[in-house]
Amino acid sequence: MYKINDNFLKLPGSYLFSTIAKKVREFQEANPDKTVIRLGIGDVTQPLAPAIIEALHTAVDEMAHQDTFHGYAPDLGYEFLRSAIVEGDYRSRGVDIQEDEIFVSDGAKCDCSNIQELFSVDNRIAVCDPVYPVYVDSNVMAGRTGTYDAQTQTWSDVIYMPCTAENQFVPELPKETPDLIYICSPNNPIGSALTKEQLQVWVDYANEKGAVILFDAAYEAYISEEDVPHSIYECEGAKTCAIEMKSFSKNAGFTGMRLGYTVVPKELKQGEASLNAMWARRHGTKYNGAPYIIQKAGAAAYTPEGREQLQKQVAYYMNNASVIKEGLQQAGFEVYGGVNAPYIWLRVPAGMTSWEFFDDLLARANVVGTPGSGFGPSGEGYFRLTAFGTYENTVAAIERIKAL
Ligand code: MLT
Repeated sequence: MYKINDNFLKLPGSYLFSTIAKKVREFQEANPDKTVIRLGIGDVTQPLAPAIIEALHTAVDEMAHQDTFHGYAPDLGYEFLRSAIVEGDYRSRGVDIQEDEIFVSDGAKCDCSNIQELFSVDNRIAVCDPVYPVYVDSNVMAGRTGTYDAQTQTWSDVIYMPCTAENQFVPELPKETPDLIYICSPNNPIGSALTKEQLQVWVDYANEKGAVILFDAAYEAYISEEDVPHSIYECEGAKTCAIEMKSFSKNAGFTGMRLGYTVVPKELKQGEASLNAMWARRHGTKYNGAPYIIQKAGAAAYTPEGREQLQKQVAYYMNNASVIKEGLQQAGFEVYGGVNAPYIWLRVPAGMTSWEFFDDLLARANVVGTPGSGFGPSGEGYFRLTAFGTYENTVAAIERIKAL
């Protein structure tokens, strides 16, 4: 008789954003006359930039002709995209990353959740708290997290590193030693970012302890401050301890197109075992490559026109972030984030839990956000709003909240 992977049964409820979607659906069914504004999941709303659309059209036309048709993509991604990434995201910033250290995929979410397969089940993970739920949930599925305590909403084998207003949202080095350290900067959900100096502390720590940092840089395009690094490889020694994951979702509006990449440096080794070779083996076995037309569209993000158009898109969303931040501050909220990231993190009114605030905001303002406790125990008492809505909806949502 078959046996299931009963680690799945340990996961509480459904995935955070599925729970929210269900609640909103039920609210809409009960209140069909209400116009709900969604500032919950960080999904983009602006259409693809013209340079990307043009690249898509061209690639689609190529697929219609025998001599330009493309079947399976190369394991690691097309050379044209990997070299555009290396040049655009690394060499142009003085960071030495090679084409064969780049693995093109269908998005950072898959890479963030799959990367743990490289490590044995008895590795201990450390996560910031609050945290993007995918890191913990994927380790639960792999059997790496121990037992769940519903009271504290924590897993017994996970090392939580609280990030709250009290420590300026900067994780402190943990007392127990982790093997795998997840860091997201600019941060989802808080919207804060580590400076190069702060990140260097983690790189030094990981090298000293023999740990690996799994660095999620999905929101890199939103960095506005000089001292915030765009890649962990700007820190000295990061190539021997860090894997970096990046996405085209937030900087190029690819949430519905699916494209991302992971950097596994060749220096990253455990004895003779190269993590780069292991990930290449895994990629080649389990994945047949992002579609040609999507990779072509991704490469267009690195052309001069593409870059200019995408910078405008990022500025559009960051303008929304200012609208949210300033509006909430005027309404008397304590507000964080929104400077190097498209997320605003606010403290909910005293006496309310994050979920109570979610329900109240949905019922009275018909605005959807994300309860901080959904991202971990230290998220309790906080709430996240995304700047990825349209400008009009963002302004309307803030007016509604202020009117409460
Ligand atoms: C979020 O809202 O946290 C993100 O959009 C989720 C994701 O990128 O998968």
